[in-house]
Amino acid sequence: MDFTLSKEHLLFRQMVREFVENEIKPIMQEIDEEERFPREVWEKLGPAGLLGIQYPKKYGGQGGDYLAYVMAIEEISKYCASITSGIAAHSSLCCWPIYQFGTEEQKMRFLPELLSGKAWGAMGLTEPGAGSDAAMQQTKAYLDGDHYVVNGRKCFITNAGEAKYYTTVVMTDKSKGNKGMSILVIPADAPGFSIGKHEKKMGIRASATADLIFDNCIVPKENLIGKEGDGFKMIMQTLDIGRIGVGAVGLGIAEGAWEETLKYVGQRKQFGKTIGSFQNTQFEMADMKTRIDSAQLIIYRAACTKDAGLPFGLYACMGKYYGATIGSDVTRRCVQLFGGYGYMREYHVERMMRDAKIVEIYEGTSEVQKMVIAGHLKVGK
Ligand code: CAA
Repeated sequence: MDFTLSKEHLLFRQMVREFVENEIKPIMQEIDEEERFPREVWEKLGPAGLLGIQYPKKYGGQGGDYLAYVMAIEEISKYCASITSGIAAHSSLCCWPIYQFGTEEQKMRFLPELLSGKAWGAMGLTEPGAGSDAAMQQTKAYLDGDHYVVNGRKCFITNAGEAKYYTTVVMTDKSKGNKGMSILVIPADAPGFSIGKHEKKMGIRASATADLIFDNCIVPKENLIGKEGDGFKMIMQTLDIGRIGVGAVGLGIAEGAWEETLKYVGQRKQFGKTIGSFQNTQFEMADMKTRIDSAQLIIYRAACTKDAGLPFGLYACMGKYYGATIGSDVTRRCVQLFGGYGYMREYHVERMMRDAKIVEIYEGTSEVQKMVIAGHLKVGK
């Protein structure tokens, strides 16, 4: 077992840190206040190689591995989880099913544009009545000659309105339940496709979140990914992959908040000494860092297991669950150490605490993660 990072990973992490320093830190607070999707940053993510890290160069990716991807999500999330939520939706949820289940022609048609960042992607799964119960899809599609006709609505979709391609789950045969589901790549300009209202959120306010509306939407039949009826299994496998990255969002937020707090407790004085010299603060900082490191180990293991071609679903779920848990726990405790200042928007920990909450909810709630973990462990079987 080797816990050291390769020279390539260390160099890559340094490159990501520089990108964050130059492009994200200067605007991270402002875009949260303005609830604005930062297109100017997104336009630089592709050229910086951050939208296709873990995909082969042949398709426009960087030829890197999942560990590098997770490290990038972790580093950027220390400062802006809005941007990493969008990267995860683009990279894992939209691109991965095309890469894994698409034909060579489909990969060459969609991936070079997406992985280079010339186009951004999203996934359409969640519906008003199909959240945790993902099999309850109501969006329907039927084949009519050379195209599908799609009717229905998706909600809470990350990158909605900004993405050019939407990897979307539809019911092609309702009578077959989860065996009647399929995946279509729906372009933003498909006739009958529109974007609904943009959500106003507690956190990750600089990510775009809206409904997708399909009203007799016309989608070429060549945009069907995999076989009709295989949609549920493909999307479950996509979520397995996605969880590795989303766990790193929670991890990165926790690390960012911890680092801010470390600086603060070394400066803030009360009762004639820095608050960092009080044992309560030291115990809090030590306990939080231990949890952060545990989450990092679980998440890196999930990524390395995937990179080694071994079954990683259990570790991905544990990483998502624990990354989300410590994201909320650590940010709440950091706000407490900041005291009244922690509650003020001037300090980043307030935003981080709001941002962390979503990680316990999106891409499968913590309760869903525990269901899946228990399933892997055959608890009660
Ligand atoms: N890989 C392959 N196959 C899988 C699988 C996996 N990971 N998980 C389940 N399956 C298969 C099962 O083997 C089963 O196959 P058979 O019928 O042939 O036996 C079939 O799928 C049904 O499995 P389950 O009975 O376990 O399915 P379920 O209906 O009970 O649901 C669930 C299980 C885990 C709760 C699932 O519904 C789930 O993951 N829900 C959460 C959905 C989610 O994460 N939503 C978030 C959306 S993404 C998002 O947030 C968008 C955004 O933009 C941020």
